[in-house]
Amino acid sequence: MASLFFEPSTRTRFAFESAMQRLGGSIVTLESGASSSTKKGETLADTGRIMSGYADIAVIRHPQKNSAEEFAQFSSIPVINAGDGPNQHPSQSLLDIYSINHFQGHLDGLTIGIVGDLKFSRTVNSLIKLLAFYKRHTFYLISHPNLKMAAETVNWLKKNGHQVIEMESLKDAIPHLDIIYMTRVQEERFESREAYLSVKDHYRLDRSQLQDAKKNLSIMHPLPRVCEIAEDVDDHPAAKYFEQAHLGLYVRMALITEMLGLK
Ligand code: NCD
Repeated sequence: MASLFFEPSTRTRFAFESAMQRLGGSIVTLESGASSSTKKGETLADTGRIMSGYADIAVIRHPQKNSAEEFAQFSSIPVINAGDGPNQHPSQSLLDIYSINHFQGHLDGLTIGIVGDLKFSRTVNSLIKLLAFYKRHTFYLISHPNLKMAAETVNWLKKNGHQVIEMESLKDAIPHLDIIYMTRVQEERFESREAYLSVKDHYRLDRSQLQDAKKNLSIMHPLPRVCEIAEDVDDHPAAKYFEQAHLGLYVRMALITEMLGLK
């Protein structure tokens, strides 16, 4: 597996690399795009062509939207998008869906609060797309007014038979929720530091806010967290984010096996 990371990563890279090694495979890795020929002006297309000769499968994370797709067009091996800028992060969503099913026992008719950066978070973009395949969800989209989900995505969810409630208050939403999916404000996607600073501390979920929560609540987060979940939540029975990250290993093992056409 060629593991090509042009953006920072801890979980995603380690999960894919551990998954490949546990399946008995090996890895050629690019931990920082800065050390590759991309710095000399090599295009993603050429990197794709070259990697196809060195590996049987590639995993790529890159800051540009549609970069994984471009890379895949010029590769002759299966390519996994591990995050293309603010656009998509599909393997994270597979593990999120797998985790939701594991924690809740089903994937239809859930009340899901998605909180934080609904504008730039690629994990949210991808998760919404997958959840929409299931039936009759109620989405509470909870964000600062500057970080709302794109109107076309909201309309698309409604057209697919889901109820959507957009609001700013996390406290008011909590008693209704089966899932809280917290996200980090994506500092690296803002045009100015001031714009980031004005929204970065808007949400901080702490244990005291969970008093009215439903018994079956699962608190999830793709991680890394910055300040949006206080550490006093970590040993609450609803806190599932570390388990969620761990489940990502098995989902990636399954994904690699499937994409390589192995049994
Ligand atoms: C996410 C990402 O990179 O988009 N992290 C991850 O892959 N688990 C979320 C984030 O960085 O906020």
